[in-house]
Amino acid sequence: MKGKFITFEGIDGAGKSSHVEWLADWLRTQGKTVHVTREPGGTELGEKLRTLLLNDPMHLETETLLMFAARREHLARLIEPALARGEWVVCDRFSDATYAYQGGGRGLDRAKFLALEHWVHEHVQPDLTLLFDLPLDVARERIARASRVLDRFEQERADFHERVRQAYLERASTNPLRIRTIDASHSLEEIKVKIEKTVLEACL
Ligand code: TMP
Repeated sequence: MKGKFITFEGIDGAGKSSHVEWLADWLRTQGKTVHVTREPGGTELGEKLRTLLLNDPMHLETETLLMFAARREHLARLIEPALARGEWVVCDRFSDATYAYQGGGRGLDRAKFLALEHWVHEHVQPDLTLLFDLPLDVARERIARASRVLDRFEQERADFHERVRQAYLERASTNPLRIRTIDASHSLEEIKVKIEKTVLEACL
């Protein structure tokens, strides 16, 4: 028996996080045991690495290696055991984020990304990835309205976020079965209907 692994992705301000809990609750009404988690993070060590990653300036390769180090821990301690027990894991970001942010946004060599992906999770890929997409100016406006200190990624310039968005869209176009794009400019209700339909088609 193997559970299902669903990830949420998108540029900062795309509004994906509010749908993660909603999907988990809906899956529980379908009788599934569901773990909600996030990256970077998801374990005690991973959350410590998250604090460093979101706040401390560092070299691009250090950033990439720490993302994958946190991911290795997350897979070993939470994701792989849960899937092996037949449980579901709903994760706010995974390796597509490294592809988009460190690859697209910061220009990490793709071969280095692929080598780490192969090393850290050769046999695990999400069963389904929901990519929340929306125009950059709308996402930037949402971030600007947030009444909190912005992290290192949110503080990046618009052209960084545009490259992240384009990398996500390119990744979706080369993985059309796994990655389904959701128009995040739609209403919350429309997005919920779309998520439910997509998960039913892809996973249930
Ligand atoms: P979050 O705000 O969606 O929780 O994500 C934290 C930030 O970390 C977000 O700006 C994207 C960034 N990030 C990367 O740059 N690479 C990664 O591999 C992951 C998982 C997140």
